[in-house]
Amino acid sequence: MSELRFDGRVAIVTGAGNGLGRSHALLLASRGAKVVVNDLGGGATGAGKSSAAADKVVEEIKAKGGEAVANYDSVEDGAKIVQCALDTWKKIDIIVNNAGILRDTSFPKMSQEDWDLIYRVHVLGGFRITHAAWNHMRDAGYGRVIFTASAAGIYGNFGQANYSMAKLGLVGLSNTLALEGKKKNVLVNTIAPIAGSRLTETVLPKEITDALKPEYVSPLVAWLCHEDCSETGGLFEVGGGFFGKLRWERTEGKLFKLGREITPDQLKKSWSVITDFGKTTHPTDVTSSMQPILGNLQSKSLGGNELIDVDAALGYELPAVTSSYDERDVALYALGVGAAQNPLDQEELQYVYEMNGQGFNVLPTFGVVPALRMIFDMYKRGEQAPGLNYGFDRVLHGEQYTEVVRPLPPKANLRHKAKIKEIWDKGKNALVVTGIDSYDADTGELLVKNDLTTFVRGAGGWGGERGPSADVNVPPDRAPDKVLEDKTT
Ligand code: NAI
Repeated sequence: MSELRFDGRVAIVTGAGNGLGRSHALLLASRGAKVVVNDLGGGATGAGKSSAAADKVVEEIKAKGGEAVANYDSVEDGAKIVQCALDTWKKIDIIVNNAGILRDTSFPKMSQEDWDLIYRVHVLGGFRITHAAWNHMRDAGYGRVIFTASAAGIYGNFGQANYSMAKLGLVGLSNTLALEGKKKNVLVNTIAPIAGSRLTETVLPKEITDALKPEYVSPLVAWLCHEDCSETGGLFEVGGGFFGKLRWERTEGKLFKLGREITPDQLKKSWSVITDFGKTTHPTDVTSSMQPILGNLQSKSLGGNELIDVDAALGYELPAVTSSYDERDVALYALGVGAAQNPLDQEELQYVYEMNGQGFNVLPTFGVVPALRMIFDMYKRGEQAPGLNYGFDRVLHGEQYTEVVRPLPPKANLRHKAKIKEIWDKGKNALVVTGIDSYDADTGELLVKNDLTTFVRGAGGWGGERGPSADVNVPPDRAPDKVLEDKTT
């Protein structure tokens, strides 16, 4: 395999008088690149300036037969550095934004000067150089730009609030420039290196800084700057022999249906879901990042989430309505459920024949009928509770609770009071529990209570409570107490 060469390429490496920048410059020059060795030559905290640092590296390059020119401008004067490349070699192909300083201090002690200076050297400097060179690279249809971030920006690091801000700012800058430059073959990547240098010698033990050679980082810079490499918009951690790429990972998260209030309480309840990395996605651009949001907007326009407005419906008391039944309804119901199949069965005649000598009685389960009829009639009249915006096409009769408070009379005028007692979010679907108390309209006596659970297809998913799960009815492991066999007609 022939080695990757940079013959004919012009590179700017900022802060190339020391540490990582020097190593990048030496490597690129050793492989044929013409290098602007930029360095202000100041101290690690940005004080002072000198031409010595850049000159020394230029001499090293030249001594090995390479081509280099020294530049002593601050990266804050980025246009001058680019001009130096253009004046010397009439073009610019590669920019390695590397110059950097530290102003470490805990946040309360951080002065605005500490903040501003770090921003100016790392971010403004990176902007000025790259901006000055951008159109030259676009016009030439070739450009490679490297920004130098830091683990401190990606993860945070005590005492480096200013530096972390600047370093992650460069990742954002790089992400967008990668998009803007791609068509013109201007590719932009960011490295988060670790290397022994004067910036790390105060933080890491000497054995470690000695081992973490800048030369372990530069090969990545060179590869990303090579014409064979099509990588763009990448972020890489590199150092001590390690090379890895980073990406964003997002929890699957939770979607709350739109059109109703989303409360902090719901978030508290769903927090473990929202923050669960068991299932994740890796958005790579703004479009894929927006995907769940757009999906949610779409499902709103389909109406799925407008079927129930919990705030409007829950607790709503429907206006009282009256109805009546008589012996005919009672007898028909009993016949309907199979009573008196044998018309001579005295025991069952009491449910179907009002002139029966031994009395006429109402099957207790008849207590469901007036309540259900009342609900059906209301639907027909379009008198649903506010906030319940679904039709019969979506509902299934779920559970039914019926409590017969006293034996039902053979005929009665009833007065029903109904209330939306519960609304549960079962994920895709919803449950609505309507409580109906039916009174004897003449005496005011409560006769029967019904809780009607309606399963509403496609109406759930607003992040509300799931409600209680019904106990699973496990039959006892023994013979039944009584066996009754019957046949329906
Ligand atoms: P270094 O201090 O050895 O080299 C930085 C060079 O930048 C110095 O020669 C300095 O004179 C120059 N410089 C500073 N301000 C300048 C300005 N305004 N204009 C032009 N040149 C300027 O530091 P090192 O470690 O080589 O750092 C290089 C880059 O890597 C920096 O951006 C640093 O933040 C970053 N970095 C380094 C890490 C490490 O482990 N060494 C870790 C993470 C990031």
